[in-house]
Amino acid sequence: MKPRAPTTVNRSRAIALVLGGGAMNYFFGAEAPGMAQLPKDPNDPRDAARSAEMAHDPAVLAAARTLLAKTFEYRYYLNFQWLGRPIVQYPQDIIALQEIVWDTKPTLIIETGVAHGGSLILYASLFELMKIDGEAVGVEIELRKHNEDALNAHPMHERIRVLKGSSTDPAIIAELKTIAKRHERVMVVLDSLHTHEHVLAELELYSPLVTPGNYLVCFGTSVADVTHELDLKRQWDQERNPKSALDAWLATKPPFDVDQELSDRLILSDGPGGYLRRR
Ligand SMILES: C[S@@+](CC[C@H](N)C(=O)[O-])C[C@H]1O[C@@H](n2cnc3c(N)ncnc32)[C@H](O)[C@@H]1O
Repeated sequence: MKPRAPTTVNRSRAIALVLGGGAMNYFFGAEAPGMAQLPKDPNDPRDAARSAEMAHDPAVLAAARTLLAKTFEYRYYLNFQWLGRPIVQYPQDIIALQEIVWDTKPTLIIETGVAHGGSLILYASLFELMKIDGEAVGVEIELRKHNEDALNAHPMHERIRVLKGSSTDPAIIAELKTIAKRHERVMVVLDSLHTHEHVLAELELYSPLVTPGNYLVCFGTSVADVTHELDLKRQWDQERNPKSALDAWLATKPPFDVDQELSDRLILSDGPGGYLRRR
């Protein structure tokens, strides 16, 4: 018996017959394959070329920048919670963190800058769902009493620890090194003070803790792209910020690759170009 051709080919032939070549271009792009080739699936959820094209579309970029800047004026980044705790992240970044944790299975996630603890709860809940015996360790210079109480009372509290102090304090780094020794796979998220100097120091101090194959995430790089009109008397601006620190650090050729495909997919992110995977 003659083997059947793959269904995708049959479907594309059928579409071509009904719609003609112009419509094929519309559905499959300008580089639509010839009739003998398999067409690209326009609904492929991980089509890097499609995401890259979107990420370079000037209209998309302009709209995204306007949206980020305008919603920043209303402190949009404060609008969300994870399992009852405020999480100071854009929903796109929350999804990205979830994808990374699923893909790379860290057993320790270190985060600088805890605020209300929403992200620590996110990591802890992912460990629970994935049945990973992991721990989420945060570093916070100003852990407010009501946040500490809420974290201690949270069902996820056993997987969470907060070290109080500055993320660049040598005593904190020494403690984190001791904790990291117990773990095979370590991921780091930098989200504390967004000055050039502080982020550069964090990149130098925390990158060695990340294990090969795992991620170092540097949030706040969006500051470079967006003129924030809200005057928060911040010590960073479009020239000196987490992105400028990241660029300076990447120029030293550390063993990390920027996950550009991920940034391209997010568009609305506080960490464009800030998702790095250790080689
Ligand atoms: C953007 S918020 C963190 C948001 C948090 N990562 C989340 O996802 O919800 C920044 C936090 O960094 C803290 N911070 C500022 N300077 C710091 C430092 N030197 N070391 C540690 N934390 C710091 C601030 O107190 C603030 O709570």
